[in-house]
Amino acid sequence: MQPTVIAPSILSADFAKLGAEVDAVLAAGADWVHFDVMDNHYVPNLTIGPMVCEALRRHGVGAPIDVHLMVEPVDRIVPDFAKAGASLISFHPEASRHVHRTIQLIKSHGCQAGLVLNPATPVEVLDYVLEELDLVLLMSVNPGFGGQAFIPSALPKLRRVREMIDRSGRAIRLEIDGGVKADNIGEIAAAGADTFVAGSAIFGAPDYAEVIGRMRAAVDA
Ligand code: DX5
Ligand code: ZN
Repeated sequence: MQPTVIAPSILSADFAKLGAEVDAVLAAGADWVHFDVMDNHYVPNLTIGPMVCEALRRHGVGAPIDVHLMVEPVDRIVPDFAKAGASLISFHPEASRHVHRTIQLIKSHGCQAGLVLNPATPVEVLDYVLEELDLVLLMSVNPGFGGQAFIPSALPKLRRVREMIDRSGRAIRLEIDGGVKADNIGEIAAAGADTFVAGSAIFGAPDYAEVIGRMRAAVDA
């Protein structure tokens, strides 16, 4: 199991002061910045692209930037995000015609590669690519919006993917995204996640350090 990572999703940050928001969550103990990219095509919402990632790097953000692509097609945008300073790039298999090729493309640009499974996407999609991945991201909401409720079937799915990762013997992270809060993160961790995305639960809280501290304590309990 990898060390715990808390990755606030900036989707729920105040975009009018994004640099300060990112500085604040990192100062409050966050490990990564989760960067949600939506194209109004693969998902019914539109957010931010490589220019904003690059601006965060220029602003001085040194923490890993965890880019979650909810875009179709995927390949065209990968080099731009690598150049913009992305550390990890994850994508949905439904949005790429050649999943194995996209994974290699991400790695060839010097980034770590992740595959994202929607709530209804079967874990078998990992069968022939797991060993190529640095991270598996399980969605516990349907992608597109922050602030949705955690879908409980993500828990048995986490247990299954945890087994697959352990069997592979590789240092692959298991990330969960959607509806993660201080009061359910304990059971999510027990099901096998080591990397936790939280948007509304962190940016909606009055004290970022307090909520991140409570999350970490619940994971370690
Ligand atoms: C949803 C995004 C999530 C979202 C999570 O498509 O991938 O990262 O910001 O938000 P919360 O934590 O509010 O469910
Ligand atoms: Zn996300």
